[in-house]
Amino acid sequence: MLLQKKVNAISAITVLLHMSSSQALSSELAKTPLMGWSSWNAFGTNFNSSSIERTVQLFHDLGLTQAGYEYVNLDDGWSAYSRTVDGYLQANETTFPNGIGALAHYIHANGLKLGLYGDSGVYTCEFHPGSSGYEKRDAQTLAEWGVDYWKYDNCGGFAAMVDSPQIRFGDMKDALLLSGRDIAYEVCEWGYQFPWHWGGDIGHSYRIGGDITDKFINETGCACKTAYCLDTGYAGCSVTTMMRKMREISQYQTPGHWAYMDMLQIGNGNMTLYQQQTHFAFWAALKSPLIIGTNLETLPSASAAILTNADIIAINQDPLGLAVHYMQGASIENSLQVWVGEIEGGYIVLVFNEKSYPQHASISFNQLGFDIQGNVNVKELWSGHNWGRINSISTTVESYQTLVFKLGH
Ligand SMILES: *[C@@H]1O[C@H](CO)[C@@H](O)[C@H](O)[C@H]1NC(C)=O
Ligand SMILES: *[C@@H]1O[C@H](CO)[C@@H](O)[C@H](O)[C@H]1NC(C)=O
Ligand SMILES: *[C@@H]1O[C@H](CO)[C@@H](O)[C@H](O)[C@H]1NC(C)=O
Ligand SMILES: *[C@@H]1O[C@H](CO)[C@@H](O)[C@H](O)[C@H]1NC(C)=O
Repeated sequence: MLLQKKVNAISAITVLLHMSSSQALSSELAKTPLMGWSSWNAFGTNFNSSSIERTVQLFHDLGLTQAGYEYVNLDDGWSAYSRTVDGYLQANETTFPNGIGALAHYIHANGLKLGLYGDSGVYTCEFHPGSSGYEKRDAQTLAEWGVDYWKYDNCGGFAAMVDSPQIRFGDMKDALLLSGRDIAYEVCEWGYQFPWHWGGDIGHSYRIGGDITDKFINETGCACKTAYCLDTGYAGCSVTTMMRKMREISQYQTPGHWAYMDMLQIGNGNMTLYQQQTHFAFWAALKSPLIIGTNLETLPSASAAILTNADIIAINQDPLGLAVHYMQGASIENSLQVWVGEIEGGYIVLVFNEKSYPQHASISFNQLGFDIQGNVNVKELWSGHNWGRINSISTTVESYQTLVFKLGH
């Protein structure tokens, strides 16, 4: 507790030091959490213009476009290993023979938006050129190509630790502002120095930790299981550990500037359908950006149905932009989690069974701190089942399942 207070004080000082840093990006671009797909979990660095064009077609075929996903993001590996002789970023000419401008044109003609990846250090994580010292020039290049989203990573810059993340990521924000194009900006600095206290002043989204793993529970890596941990950069946290970290962070969610729990692992690894539903329900209700991380070509239709569930997506895109919070008094630690939150015209209650066997849950609405009295209309969103007008829930929750109740008048 004492350590946490000290750490909070340090972040507060960091925020103050940074107040002087100029204008903010327009929050219009991210009034609700950003939705899209990224190449990293699907392809690593092994992708090219045809695999991206195929992904665009699958956005349409799988109903992702209609469901609201709009960004098609190229992660590390799109660029050449060196800048042009004049010092400009350039695409790998073997994998993107027509360049990024042509790809942007193709993606825009399909009603979608293009994202690219860069790094605040000298190199990206895969040793392509980073933007340190080239911020203005690179932002200008992105604007000329018609890029709509910029994921900015923390390799080959963190190691040097010459400038603080606030300076490195802030310099790129200033450069994006100068570029004159509206570009969504993802601050991917892995949760160091607790960006929920300052990342919203810089980017439209900020990652809360190192890379997620495709495990649902019981990860083997992941040095930090909670948010205020000095090793938050360590990768390998499971879906449920990311949820655990959000107990401490969800209060900071603000329209325009979203804490990002990392890419959705639905379609990856070996999660059961209930686990995939839990994953999606929590990312949605915690107001994380929804960035799909799987190869759409091999996505099972049951997983596609989860990713396109309109009722769950509507929670994520609710105009109030308020994230659910963990309700300790209604939960049983390490067993049954209850998370609650407000949406326009009602409330959301998530009931998650984190045991490997079914459990019974009994919840009275009057213990949840809502401004409601008597009975309300209740619908469970995964089943679509209408429970009628009630004032409590008593039900079985299957192993690793999350029931999502919407309460309204
Ligand atoms: C693009 O990548 C795919 C999948 O790896 C491969 O089959 C295809 O030949 C590549 N196309 C080009 C033009 O390199
Ligand atoms: C372009 O990508 C290919 C395939 O990944 C790789 O072998 C090559 O080294 C890259 N070329 C440059 C100039 O970066
Ligand atoms: C996860 O670890 C806990 C504690 O060691 C164990 O009881 C549980 O069975 C494990 N769950 C899975 C799915 O491996
Ligand atoms: C995937 O999960 C199923 C069901 O839990 C299990 O039977 C199977 O062994 C798992 N496969 C792998 C590769 O972990």
